[in-house]
Amino acid sequence: MIRVENLTKYYGEHLAVDSISFNVKKGEIVGLLGPNGAGKTTTMRILTGFMMPTSGDAWVAECNMATNSLEGRRHIGYLPEAIPLYTDVTVRSYLDFAGRLRGLDPYRIKDRIDDVVEICHLEDYIDVLIGKLSRGFRQRVGVAQAIIHEPEVMILDEPTLGIDPIQVTQTRRLIKELGQEHTILISSHILPEVSMVCDRVVIIHEGQIVAEDRIENLSTILKGSQSIRLEVRGPTSAVTRRLQRVQGISQVRYEKPYHIVECPVDQDPRSNLMTAIVQSGWTLLSMGTVDMSLEDIFLQLTGEEDFDDDEELEE
Ligand SMILES: Nc1ncnc2c1ncn2[C@@H]1O[C@H](COP(=O)(O)OP(=O)(O)OP(=O)(O)O)[C@@H](O)[C@H]1O
Ligand SMILES: [Mg+2]
Repeated sequence: MIRVENLTKYYGEHLAVDSISFNVKKGEIVGLLGPNGAGKTTTMRILTGFMMPTSGDAWVAECNMATNSLEGRRHIGYLPEAIPLYTDVTVRSYLDFAGRLRGLDPYRIKDRIDDVVEICHLEDYIDVLIGKLSRGFRQRVGVAQAIIHEPEVMILDEPTLGIDPIQVTQTRRLIKELGQEHTILISSHILPEVSMVCDRVVIIHEGQIVAEDRIENLSTILKGSQSIRLEVRGPTSAVTRRLQRVQGISQVRYEKPYHIVECPVDQDPRSNLMTAIVQSGWTLLSMGTVDMSLEDIFLQLTGEEDFDDDEELEE
């Protein structure tokens, strides 16, 4: 439904998107994940026909967005990074305007406004001036205007940026609901967001794709290691030293009250670990594997050290 091939965009000398390729199949929700300046908005602007690529192609619903963007846009609901909302009109008149702009028949518009207001849970705000709405509700108006013409594909650029945690939860729920009927590409620099909402993730960094997979597979595409977490009753540093000597273990660290043991993904040293602990006369209280969080994966793939997902609360 969305197809990007060797897409490249220079702003003057600056290479913002560097020959990226990916697909989004019908019915999928895919996250375009990357830190600030990665090229997410640029990619989305090209996909929605608002900007020409320097080279490469972007197709949406079989329309090439460089040569056939008018037809392509009929299939796309786009929530841009900065929503162009008029603040001195009511939600109803804004949606009416958005419907006309998209070429809906005037007699259809009233029904569609009722539909999108229900989908976006805006019933209580339909006659309120947009300027009086909180940011989260404006975001919902942004989503409502994006789907008024019943597009098959939705392209949402950081839909939860700058809204509070409660509204973030509601917006995520809304996106999941929309995902039942639409093909969705959603950008984010917030890891929990994509892991909660998306089926698959494309990770982009400095204009290049650094990983692409289903969320649950991401940790295995890293060449990296797996972690095992042990809770041992015994003298901490002696336990650390003993575990380090177990065959196949690459690293041991202590994070109170656990010993975290790293080993290659193709090995299972659990029985060796257990034997070592028991033979030393200590007690093994618990043992389990530690799944790599999407955040760990992201840091490892992009080498970003200063990443901070608390930005979710930032405006
Ligand atoms: N209009 C422009 N003119 C020149 N450079 C631009 C322009 N828009 C974006 N850039 C640059 O292109 C790169 C990619 O920007 P883009 O907005 O696509 O990133 P992004 O992933 O959406 O980032 P963010 O998370 O901050 O929204 C950045 O280095 C940015 O500074
Ligand atoms: Mg952006």
